[in-house]
Amino acid sequence: MQTRYFYIKTIGCQMNVHDSDRIAGMMRTLGYEPILDIEKADLIFFNTCSVRGKAEQKTYSFLGSLAELKERNPGLIIGALGCVAQQEGEKLQKKMPHLDLVLGTHGYHRIPELLEQIQMKRCRISDTLWCESIDSLENLCSQEKVDQAGSGSRFVTIMRGCDNFCSYCVVPHVRGPEQSRGSGKIIEEIERAVKAGVREVTLLGQNVNSYGRKEGIESFPTLLEQVNRIKGLHRIRFTTSHPKDLSEELIRAFSRMDKLCRHIHLPVQSGSDRILKRMNRKYTREHYISKIDSLRQVCPEIAVTTDIIVGFPGETEEDFKQTLTLLEQVQFDALFAFEYSDRPNTRASGYRNKISEIEKRKRLQALMDIQQQYTLKKNRSLVGKQETILVDGISKKDKRKISDELNEKFQWTGRTSTNKVVNFIAENSLFFKDRLFPGALVCVTIEKAHANSLYGKAII
Ligand code: 5AD
Ligand code: SF4
Repeated sequence: MQTRYFYIKTIGCQMNVHDSDRIAGMMRTLGYEPILDIEKADLIFFNTCSVRGKAEQKTYSFLGSLAELKERNPGLIIGALGCVAQQEGEKLQKKMPHLDLVLGTHGYHRIPELLEQIQMKRCRISDTLWCESIDSLENLCSQEKVDQAGSGSRFVTIMRGCDNFCSYCVVPHVRGPEQSRGSGKIIEEIERAVKAGVREVTLLGQNVNSYGRKEGIESFPTLLEQVNRIKGLHRIRFTTSHPKDLSEELIRAFSRMDKLCRHIHLPVQSGSDRILKRMNRKYTREHYISKIDSLRQVCPEIAVTTDIIVGFPGETEEDFKQTLTLLEQVQFDALFAFEYSDRPNTRASGYRNKISEIEKRKRLQALMDIQQQYTLKKNRSLVGKQETILVDGISKKDKRKISDELNEKFQWTGRTSTNKVVNFIAENSLFFKDRLFPGALVCVTIEKAHANSLYGKAII
């Protein structure tokens, strides 16, 4: 039988990336092979994101551009998956008649039967049903088929959905209510990954701190403790956390658990109490700062990163200034900043006093300029220090010349426990011959600091 090829494009959060990896594994089980040249694909999936307007626009431009391919090859199957698919459902197919499948965030385990129906009945399907059981949704494909196999790091979903309804956020509307997986299944998945060579796991969820609360099962710190006991696992990360749910017990975990990486991503969104209230974040600036102080008390070297939205409706110059002073006060290691964007069905989309696009851009630039200095300062403080790096692979720059003869000056890339990217060389090629591979742990002396990465030399 002739091989059939699939192509998956993914944008958005790590949850989307992880879902796509497993959907790719599922496609292999169905007899498809991945292909890089989209023109040669028999099936194209686009896993979409709707967290901001710009991401949603990408859905329309990319899917729109596929109409021509479909015209040339009517047998081609095109599917929109993920958050925009969930949000728009049939409307997406009405706008784009060349879409065979629109599949929301809770339907990935139904892909095999849906594809069969599309092929047998030559029909188009839109499926945005919520799935009652997170376990059937998580059971997408066997571990061996997951695309990340062979790398030292793996995502593991521990919960899905969100019940917080921050006033700007579309996530609760497109990902549904919070659901946590049972810890037995999670531990089993990690143990199997470790047996396959994985050294680091990132526990994923929209709000991992409230893991298990609704189901009345163990708390997130207790789950972490169980993961921390898994032999052969070296590093544990988790994302994302909500400041209001960051318990003292979880803070203490950073000093108690040897495998827990010294990094937390704790989105603050704004430094102004007035705006935090309008965002429905349920904490104050002072409350947030006190959590950071406690984290640094138990773990002085912890890296803290955050998300900030600029230009939320009604954000005054004074509110924005409060955000800038928060940067100075907290000294984040890095931040992700976004211009506020109206999202369908959210409360903030109905708020008055919207900020102009020009003003939002200006505030974003001001914020980034200030943060860059702090990030560089933090990075510079590491120059001369030795850091343990978990190797990701050969750095992108050098991948281009991978076909060249193996060169001892090859540049590798990896991450510190604090999640900083380190590009490094290993000069003693004989010593490092079998010691450098994705998932290896090596000691590196940091020699240079850049805005977004560090540079160093592996040491014996
Ligand atoms: N506009 C701008 N940024 C947003 N985010 C979420 N919703 C919006 C929105 N409507 C940002 C938040 C969140 C990150 C993932 O995306 O900062 O933490
Ligand atoms: Fe969105 Fe708030 Fe839930 Fe995060 S906690 S996904 S920002 S609603």
